Amino acid sequence: MTSILVTGGAGFIGSNYVRRILASGVADSVVNLDALTYSGNLENLDGVLDDPRHRFVKADIADAPGVDSALGGIDFDQVVHFAAESHVDRSIEDAGAFLRTNVLGTQVLLDLARRRGVTRFVHVSTDEVYGALGPTGLFSETTPLSPNSPYAASKAASDLLVRAAIHTHGFPALITRCSNNYGPYQFPEKLIPLMVSNALEDRPLPVYGDGMQVRDWIHVNDHCDGIEAVRQRGRVGEVYNLGGGNERANIQVVKAILAATSKPESLIRYVADRLGHDRRYAIDATKAETELGWSPLVSFEAGLAQTIDWYISNRRWWERIKSGAYLEFYARHYAARLGGN
Ligand code: NAD
Ligand code: DAU
Repeated sequence: MTSILVTGGAGFIGSNYVRRILASGVADSVVNLDALTYSGNLENLDGVLDDPRHRFVKADIADAPGVDSALGGIDFDQVVHFAAESHVDRSIEDAGAFLRTNVLGTQVLLDLARRRGVTRFVHVSTDEVYGALGPTGLFSETTPLSPNSPYAASKAASDLLVRAAIHTHGFPALITRCSNNYGPYQFPEKLIPLMVSNALEDRPLPVYGDGMQVRDWIHVNDHCDGIEAVRQRGRVGEVYNLGGGNERANIQVVKAILAATSKPESLIRYVADRLGHDRRYAIDATKAETELGWSPLVSFEAGLAQTIDWYISNRRWWERIKSGAYLEFYARHYAARLGGN
C-alpha cells in the first residue's frame, strides 16, 4: 500500500507525473497538494481529477498551519515535492515569492514529513543550482553549487535544507536535479510552449541575446520516469542528476519550431538578453543510468514533433491561459466540491 503526497501536482511536471503514476498503478493513492498559483491549473489534470485514487488539496506550502489543517486526517507515506516558483525571468523581476515558496515552503514540508514519519521524500530540483558551463564539460552530482539567478539560488537553498534534514535527523530524502523539460501542459511562458503558441498565432518569437545559449532538453515523460526510478530504487541521502543528452542552442530550437509549424523565420525577433543569462547547461546522468537503470527514451526530434502536435490539438488549453480564462476553472468547477476553500 503506497500513498504518495505530490506537491505542485497541478503544474507542468507535477501533473504529468500524477497522470503517469496513476496510469502505471504504482501508487494506491495520490494526494495532490497545490496552491494553484498562476502556473497551477486544474485543467492540467484532465482525466484524473475524478479518479477515486486521486485527491486534490488546495494549500500553500509556505503556510505551515494551513498545510497541517489541509492534510489533517489524510494518510500518506511518501512525498514527491515539485511545488515551486519555477520561472527564471519572474525571479529576476521579484525574488520574494521564490524565497517564500522554494525555501520556506520546502522547510515546512520537511518538518511536516518528519512529524508524519514518511518513509521517502523525493525533492525535485534543477541543474540550474550548478550555475553555468562553458563550451565543454558536464554537470555531475559533485559539481559545486553555484546558482546565478534568484530562482536557482532559491532552489539551491532548498537543496541545502533537504541535505541538512538528512544529515541532522537521518531524514529519508533524495534529491533529483534535472535539465530543461518540455512536453504537454507546459505553461506558455517557457521557451518551447511560448514559441510554439506564438508561431501558431503568427506572433513574433522573442529570442534573448544572440540565441546561442545551450540547454539540455528532456521530455517530461523521461523526467517523470527518472523521478520514479529515484523514488523506487534510489539510495536515501543521494543526489541524482537527470538529463536528456539533447544539447541545443535556443535559436536551433526556435528554427525547428518554425519549420515544423510551416511559419517563416521572419517571425524571429532578437530582443534584449536576460540579465545574468546562463550560457550553457548540460547534464552527466551516468549515476542514475548505472545505479538505477534509468535512461531517457525520447529523442528530441520525436519529442518536439509530438509536443508541437499536442499544442496544435490542444489550442483551447493554451488560449485559455494566454487570455486568463483558465483562472476561472477552479472557482466554477472545483471550489464548491471542496467546500469552497
Ligand atoms: P510549474 O511552475 O509549471 O508548476 C509549479 C506548481 O507548483 C504549480 O502547480 C503551482 O501552483 C505550485 N505552487 C507554486 N507555489 C506553491 C505554493 N506556495 N504552495 C503550493 N503549491 C505551489 O513548474 P514545473 O516546470 O512543473 O516545475 C516543477 C518542479 O520541477 C519545480 O520544483 C522546478 O524547480 C523543477 N524543475 C523544473 C524543470 C523544468 O524544466 N520545468 C527542470 C528541472 C526541475
Ligand atoms: O534547467 C532547468 C530549468 O529549465 C528549470 O529549473 C526551470 O524551472 C525552467 O524554467 C528552465 O529554465 P530556463 O531559464 O532554462 O528555461 P526558459 O524556458 O525560461 O528559457 C530557456 C532558454 O530560452 C533560456 O536560455 C532563455 C531563452 N529564452 C526564453 C524565453 C522565455 C528566450 O530566448 N526567449 C524567451 O522568450
